[in-house]
Amino acid sequence: MTQLRRPLVAGNWKMNQGGAGAPALAAAVCDATRGFHRVDVVVCPPFTAIAAVARQLQGTEVQVGAQDLYTEPHGAFTGEISASMLLEAGATWVIIGHSERRSLFGETDAMVALKTKVALEAGLRPIVCVGETLSQREQGKTLEVVHHQVNAFASIFADAPGVGAIAYEPVWAIGTGKTAVPADAEHVHAYMRDRLRDVSAELGDVTRILYGGSMNATNATGLIGCGEIDGGLIGGASLKPADFASICEAGQNSINFTLRPPAFPKRPAAHQERS
Ligand code: PGA
Repeated sequence: MTQLRRPLVAGNWKMNQGGAGAPALAAAVCDATRGFHRVDVVVCPPFTAIAAVARQLQGTEVQVGAQDLYTEPHGAFTGEISASMLLEAGATWVIIGHSERRSLFGETDAMVALKTKVALEAGLRPIVCVGETLSQREQGKTLEVVHHQVNAFASIFADAPGVGAIAYEPVWAIGTGKTAVPADAEHVHAYMRDRLRDVSAELGDVTRILYGGSMNATNATGLIGCGEIDGGLIGGASLKPADFASICEAGQNSINFTLRPPAFPKRPAAHQERS
């Protein structure tokens, strides 16, 4: 981790804790991470729990994210949620293009790019997910796949360098207990950072690239300790406050300064109100 990037650990609760248990879990995360001032901690509950979790976390350092959004501001889109609705509920982050959305719900690179643009324009910080499947890895296509996925949104990220983050999540590692060896993950992260540098040196320097896929209390220090791994996107372990806090602690201990990520650039009002 270089001095330009503050560690970020985000919990992706997936389709768990959508009701009364959500504020309780958020409170437990908050208690367990109290005093960690050198890492950004984010929890991403299901849509139904965002408002309650945001209320619970008000005035604390733990931030709230959503797991997806839709690209239109309002209208006849049954079942979808807009960026402004997420902001209103209290979210400041949003996960985009998770491999489960790509594989189960048919999200394409083009949709991921549009969602990224909409999120940034609305004032939400995106965490955009990329990663290869097992068969792509076995065919030696990992770098090609992530290059293609990152290319789809890199120029959009370049409009607000460092505001959003990328999560490298090898699909074969998600929820399987199999984790990339730190050196392998580091290699992919360094490659992606070089591709961001192709767009702009600043973009490469300030974009936080998280690792995700079976990160846990035991392997987090080895992964986040790598210079190119700026934190984690955590699924299963984010539902266990003590485990999640251990991962946040690995972020907290990975550097010794407290530089904040850049604020949103000022945008014309038309960009902020997409109605
Ligand atoms: P996992 O999930 O930590 O349970 O592997 C990570 C993710 O899907 O974001």
